[in-house]
Amino acid sequence: MSKKQVKAVIGQNIHAQSFTVARADRERLNEHKGKVIWFTGLSGSGKSTLANALEARLHRLGMRTYILDGDNIRHGLNKDLGFSEADRAENIRRISEVARLMMDAGMVVMAAFISPFKRERELARELIGPENFFEVYVSTPLEVCEQRDVKGLYQQARTGKIPNMTGINSPYEAPADAYYEVISTSANFDAAVTNLVLMALDE
Ligand code: ADX
Repeated sequence: MSKKQVKAVIGQNIHAQSFTVARADRERLNEHKGKVIWFTGLSGSGKSTLANALEARLHRLGMRTYILDGDNIRHGLNKDLGFSEADRAENIRRISEVARLMMDAGMVVMAAFISPFKRERELARELIGPENFFEVYVSTPLEVCEQRDVKGLYQQARTGKIPNMTGINSPYEAPADAYYEVISTSANFDAAVTNLVLMALDE
């Protein structure tokens, strides 16, 4: 049998199972909906910091939450992936599937990934369902991210030590129609988090 035939046979024999307890039941128990808040932006733009502050506020309100974050996921589930276009696409594909499962489990999921390509963000939106997907564009300018350079990656990229660094030698495709856009600075941080909390609470 060819690889294609084997795949077709496997495909035919896999059927989606439905279980007694459904997403709506879990949401009733949690007293809130499951959803995915997707942060996109350059490295150092403030995605994780915002997601962290948002989660702390939602947790205090008694909500079930979880953060999926690039730097963490790349140590485990996606440790086999690098920063080529294909690997980044696969990174986002797997994260989208995980976020969808966690949403189905009734949680408010915050995904904080550079997610530089429009195509993968659109695939994520489709997979998760546009009604569940809230895209937050953290549009802190490259100059600011580079000045912060918390991990020293920009400096290494400028001196040619890191290939494929987003913003330097790998592209970032900004969203045109994000649900919410924020330049993350210490001056507007609290106001931004409050706006995100309101967005997360909106049913
Ligand atoms: S994504 O592009 O595939 O969405 P992801 O958010 O998972 O990226 O990982 C980004 C993190 O990996 C950055 O915050 C940074 O710490 C680290 N990193 C290491 N190499 C690179 C690189 N070449 N470009 C961007 N980030 C990098």
